[in-house]
Amino acid sequence: MDRFEHRDGSLRAEEVPLSAVAEAHGTPTFVYSAATFRAHLRRLREAFAPLRPQLCYSVKSCSNLAILRLAVEEGAGLDLVSGGELHRAILAGADPSRCVLAGVGKTDREIAGALEAGVGVFNIESAEELANVARIADDLGRPARAALRINPEVEPGTHRHTATGRRATKFGVDLATAVEVFRGHDRRSRLRLCGLHLHIGSPIATTAPYVDAIDRVLELRDSLRRHGLGVEVLDLGGGFAADYVTGQAPPASTYAAAIVPRLRAAVEEGLELILEPGRSIVANSGVLLVRVTYTKESGGRRFVICDAGMNALLRPSHYDAFHFIWPCEVPPALVPSRREERPALPGLEEVDVVGPLCETGDYLAIARSLPPVERGDLLAVYAAGAYGMSMASRYNSSPLPAEVLVDGSSARLVRRRETYDDLVAHELAVPSQATPLLGALR
Ligand code: LLP
Repeated sequence: MDRFEHRDGSLRAEEVPLSAVAEAHGTPTFVYSAATFRAHLRRLREAFAPLRPQLCYSVKSCSNLAILRLAVEEGAGLDLVSGGELHRAILAGADPSRCVLAGVGKTDREIAGALEAGVGVFNIESAEELANVARIADDLGRPARAALRINPEVEPGTHRHTATGRRATKFGVDLATAVEVFRGHDRRSRLRLCGLHLHIGSPIATTAPYVDAIDRVLELRDSLRRHGLGVEVLDLGGGFAADYVTGQAPPASTYAAAIVPRLRAAVEEGLELILEPGRSIVANSGVLLVRVTYTKESGGRRFVICDAGMNALLRPSHYDAFHFIWPCEVPPALVPSRREERPALPGLEEVDVVGPLCETGDYLAIARSLPPVERGDLLAVYAAGAYGMSMASRYNSSPLPAEVLVDGSSARLVRRRETYDDLVAHELAVPSQATPLLGALR
């Protein structure tokens, strides 16, 4: 599942002890394992090899340039959702023609930037957006391909905040509308509407929602065909699960076993397949390293207060997400064989692991069994590589954490910790009393 393992009572990322990372770079810090990232990406590629898909790593899941670089070096394209992500993609050396651009609210500026850069496929969310992208493509004289995002109305069985392919979410268009959008598109435009896009939710730990969605989209493809409209590209989105608990996520081969047979014939007829995995590659490739600032008892509960909480990792508080947490330095007898909510080990205490922010919702875990920890201990919050740093905030004027990429025995700082000056760097100075406008208001 990953390369974060306790050896002789000390947690290591590959060959590097996390205590050494904390010593060198402080906490809170996200630590990524390059070997884990590559292994997950390769497993997906191998599992889906019969369909020869273009893997577009989903930048939103973890967008550090060093991580994007790893994806690019593995031959992946990128799944982008904003001008900011396109900027990152270009800096990371990605080939824009192997990137896709999604997003329900693409601005004219983002669309023009992506057309100029030569982004491979625009994933389009509505008839109005389609007309707008076509207009800009024609004005700029830039050809591009487009795929229409379909809402197949399937139940992905995930948190309501991240279930996208259910009826009446803001994403895509329903199947009935899709045919009209295709028929209404001006075929003289430089924007060629030739694909279908789906992303039904995340994380999805079963294969049935994919199978249902694919069946519906293949039916749609048949009805488009009957109208003389061809589909060259099918982008299935992302959403494959990750191991927050040991063994929770089906392996890539399980998803492939359900999906490959359904699409093999279409691919043999020439359909190009795109996948946009994020979490399944990067979640288990990262931990968040935090230090215990204080411990205390109050109201019958024991609290472990850390130097970061929802500002660094929003998922527990925003989605009630489970992230396994364990001390980095711990006697070998207290290293559980499985990462789960209640490891069967002696002497554990039930604690709330909380952050320093001024909100009751600022926690990393509630009622969690941990070995006794004290002020100064280092804790690892596992499976924090996806939607960790990319959703981190500066709430309570907390400088953003550092990020370190481990590869074998090397540990490279890939984002320095923010300083207090970084926090205010974009703010305009408070106008002085001499400012005429302020003077007039007084
Ligand atoms: N493609 C599209 C169009 C997406 O919207 C997403 C994720 C992906 C691909 C990648 O999905 P993945 O393979 O990473 O599951 N912040 C939430 C997850 C939101 C997912 C948003 N879209 C979380 O922390 O669970």
